[in-house]
Amino acid sequence: MIVAAKSPVVVPSLLAGDLSRLGEHLDAVKAAGCRWISVDVMDGHFVPNLSFGPGFVKLAKARGFRVDAHLMVANPLEVAPWFADAGADIVTLHIEAVPDAPAALGKIRSLGVKAGLAAKPKTSVDGLVAAVERCDLVLVMTVEPGFGGQKFMPDMVPKIEALRQAVDSRRLDCWIQVDGGLNAANISQAAAAGADSLVAGSAVFAASDPAAAFRELELKARAAFGAKNKT
Ligand code: DX5
Repeated sequence: MIVAAKSPVVVPSLLAGDLSRLGEHLDAVKAAGCRWISVDVMDGHFVPNLSFGPGFVKLAKARGFRVDAHLMVANPLEVAPWFADAGADIVTLHIEAVPDAPAALGKIRSLGVKAGLAAKPKTSVDGLVAAVERCDLVLVMTVEPGFGGQKFMPDMVPKIEALRQAVDSRRLDCWIQVDGGLNAANISQAAAAGADSLVAGSAVFAASDPAAAFRELELKARAAFGAKNKT
């Protein structure tokens, strides 16, 4: 039984957006009910790609969204203040990038923002479970981080289930986020496993109608999440 159940939300990520139409995309998904945007931050070291700086957090905050900054960087504690200052509501770091995750999460929270902890596909979920009481969000990557448009990795589903059990058994108020390759064909599987924050880039912003795509994904996620709780 899910205690601190939140109604699942779909969180579009800017990575897949047409940067020349970003404002239009954001306005479209906001009109469709979207209230949370994920900003993928990449440094070319932790992942083989470069992406967004704090300015993109400001852009999304200016439109009234909740924003999580997903730091795929080798020095998350150095850059976290930049994203907190830009208005990020949640700053998520990777467990692979810090020697002491609980201490790092405490440092993030000391910035006055909520703290998230992410794991790459090859990283065990054990570290996230061990630190879950220090987390406001845990993130299961369902692709190798670095690029949008990749294929969802269904063998990550047991990690989602393990975190759902860890959060519920401790009655924590902690989002369980999944990021990577989510689309209309697999989002129900992620939600049924217990994910309540579902990041979608290509499935939303590469769609011909991002607003309709957002609505479809969120309807599917909510139906699946609810279905699981009824069993
Ligand atoms: C990977 C990124 C992507 C992005 C979502 O590092 O984190 O997962 O947010 O992109 P899609 O939904 O296209 O996989």
